[in-house]
Amino acid sequence: MSPAAHRIAVIPGDGIGPEVIAAARLVLEATGLPLEMREYPAGDACLAERGVALPEETLRAAKEAEAVLFGAAGETAAEVILRLRAELETWVNLRPARALAGVDCLYPQADLVIVRENTECLYRGLESRLTPEVVTATRLITAGASRRIARFAFDYARRQGYRRVTAIHKANVLRQSDGLFLDCCREVARDYPEIDYQEVLVDAAAMYLVQDPGRFQVMVTTNLFGDILSDLAAGLIGGLGLCPSANLGDRYALFEPVHGSAPDIAGQGRANPAAAIMCAAMMLAHLGHRDQAEAVHRALAAAVAQGQTTPDLGGELDTLGMARAVAERLG
Ligand code: NAI
Ligand code: MG
Repeated sequence: MSPAAHRIAVIPGDGIGPEVIAAARLVLEATGLPLEMREYPAGDACLAERGVALPEETLRAAKEAEAVLFGAAGETAAEVILRLRAELETWVNLRPARALAGVDCLYPQADLVIVRENTECLYRGLESRLTPEVVTATRLITAGASRRIARFAFDYARRQGYRRVTAIHKANVLRQSDGLFLDCCREVARDYPEIDYQEVLVDAAAMYLVQDPGRFQVMVTTNLFGDILSDLAAGLIGGLGLCPSANLGDRYALFEPVHGSAPDIAGQGRANPAAAIMCAAMMLAHLGHRDQAEAVHRALAAAVAQGQTTPDLGGELDTLGMARAVAERLG
């Protein structure tokens, strides 16, 4: 008897979203794994057609699926992806930034993982206009969320064989909030004696990332710092076409490339599908198919190393052509 298929809700979205998702699907199908992938609408086009950017049907399907694979939204990104992250209660935003061999980039050796807290900090949106000329924003940091994200970072490091976790903070100025965050990281670190625990101020971390990214492996941080530093990390390894992410919570998991709908190249077959294919690999690992996840990653790396890429990486293939080059290596 064949094993029950994994139910995947696929939300392609706008612009290059559907293009890179079609590429990722082609690679997923080539793994031969039992995946039941169904597509659901969301985004700008959905808003224009149905009057709603994130239909209830899509939200329900996302909650009923074992995993969600998301492409990109355009102008409606906040209504679609921020709402999905919140509705699915995903408290980790996991952003690996690993250079692939053969990519012309600032740091061919970079192998960083940013573990970003996904629910609080300044992104809670707690802003108040006290007078027409005075606005405050509240930075929410709780021990519960800080311990939870720290534990995720150390467990991830242990599982993936990383030897160092660095907490990124600004506790010299944000004494209470980042003081609490650091206390929680230190407390959790004691349970992982084999992992080297370090703390670096966020401003210094920005400089070190440019000068010597090899000093970092897993970086754990609060929401705003994680957002900024993960884009910096993307810049080190060759850009947005190469950066996948996973939003994980206790019940749900949503995988999405870091990039947006790229209207400047949409419809031309020029979108690099690597980020979406890496999202697919992360999803397979999450579903328990670690070997196939690694096989997809190796196939992608081999295609890139041999110049079988889209034009942004110097190749001559279109989006689906690059996906086929990856899929053929899985056969
Ligand atoms: P973007 O990520 O769409 O594009 C930035 C630049 O990178 C563009 O020049 C684009 O051509 C290039 N690029 C992005 N992905 C690429 C890929 N896979 N292959 C090759 N080149 C790639 O960001 P931008 O232009 O700031 O935003 C465009 C739209 O996307 C906006 O409407 C924004 O709201 C939305 N957006 C949605 C996100 C999401 O759905 N998670 C995230 C970021 C932006
Ligand atoms: Mg960002």
